[in-house]
Amino acid sequence: MKEKLTAFEKRVKRHVIAKKHTFFVPVSPGLIDVCFDEISKLDLEAEEIKKIQGGGIEFTGSLNDCYKANLFLRCANRVLMRVHSFKATNFKSMEKKTAKVPWELYLNPGIPLEVSVSSSKSRLFHTKAVSEKIIDVIYKTLSISEMNANYEDSKTQRVFVRVVDDTFTISIDSTGENLYKRGLKTIGGPAPIRETIASALLTMAGFSKNMILVDPMCGTGTFSIEAYLMATNTLPGFYREFSFQNWPGYKEARFNHIKKKASEEIEVPETPFIFASDRNGNIVNELKKCVDKLGFGEYINVSANDFFKLIPDLPADNKKLVIFNPPFGQRIGSKGESDKTVKAIIEKLKKDYKGYTFGIILPFKDLVKKIPYKCKTYSFSHGGLQLTFATGMVK
Ligand SMILES: C[S@@+](CC[C@H](N)C(=O)[O-])C[C@H]1O[C@@H](n2cnc3c(N)ncnc32)[C@H](O)[C@@H]1O
Repeated sequence: MKEKLTAFEKRVKRHVIAKKHTFFVPVSPGLIDVCFDEISKLDLEAEEIKKIQGGGIEFTGSLNDCYKANLFLRCANRVLMRVHSFKATNFKSMEKKTAKVPWELYLNPGIPLEVSVSSSKSRLFHTKAVSEKIIDVIYKTLSISEMNANYEDSKTQRVFVRVVDDTFTISIDSTGENLYKRGLKTIGGPAPIRETIASALLTMAGFSKNMILVDPMCGTGTFSIEAYLMATNTLPGFYREFSFQNWPGYKEARFNHIKKKASEEIEVPETPFIFASDRNGNIVNELKKCVDKLGFGEYINVSANDFFKLIPDLPADNKKLVIFNPPFGQRIGSKGESDKTVKAIIEKLKKDYKGYTFGIILPFKDLVKKIPYKCKTYSFSHGGLQLTFATGMVK
């Protein structure tokens, strides 16, 4: 027999579960086209998927779509649910309008709250004061005070407030920790690339199922692990938790059903198809332990090798991609070294990697001139640096 819903549950159902919402997916500069393609290909009930100036994608959809976007998107940073938008030029009006949101239907009173504010071209420009006042309004609606809130462990829920030209857009974060945190890697290393970016660069280089990936300066193995997830249809969000799992409207059975259905699509090949190596023996040992623990070790071959000494011996008929995030000027080493590094990598590719697709991150766009092959180039930013990704075929 179905349990009778309480009055509160009925309100949550009517206002949150059964309703369509507008979601905003912030994306790192340079990845928006790849992410837009990803969202468009997802099996969402979503309508009106559109790119938004200033770095993101917006769509209208259900809570299911929100679960799916968090679980499936490889290149997105997070998924925000828009809850209110209004104009205000003074605190009194801002507080009155913020109080109109039925916060108790969205947020969990047992979890600490953070309100992140950005403001431009607006009367209310003091972001700390805006944040404090909005927190007070939300606490009042949730009938708690900071003092008596009975918080669970270390989780936080976040509300984002964007103020432009006195217009407030208020969103609740459904994600939690940034989506590049897949909950998979147990190692750190020098200048690792973010998982969201690695996945986008693999897509830009045309990586797909049935291709072999060579990752000869693998570091912590970000490209290799992302390529494994992509090639096997494994959800990037499968191994982690999300903020929406604490919402009053969260439907665990629904979420688990989506995960279960997606797991049925996982296809694992018979042999290793990813070859990760690095000259740093310590990092290689850590990566080996990490992929073994994840159960990916049979398919990701990890070895300690110097790229310049390694001669690849891989099946001739498979399509192959060799990808690099070399130790470059702006981050590690000097600018002069970047030039030398690219030249040396190209010489080696010419000699031993004919017929491979290549992808290489360059710290300075003009380094593309050192590549003697036809290239597609993409600009993206990482850790505050403007970088270029060049991809083409070794002839
Ligand atoms: C910027 S890090 C790569 C980070 C990696 N993409 C990640 O996400 O962790 C560059 C890596 O290249 C490796 N490396 C530098 N020269 C190498 C060489 N000649 N052969 C193999 N690995 C090399 C370094 O040990 C370092 O781990």
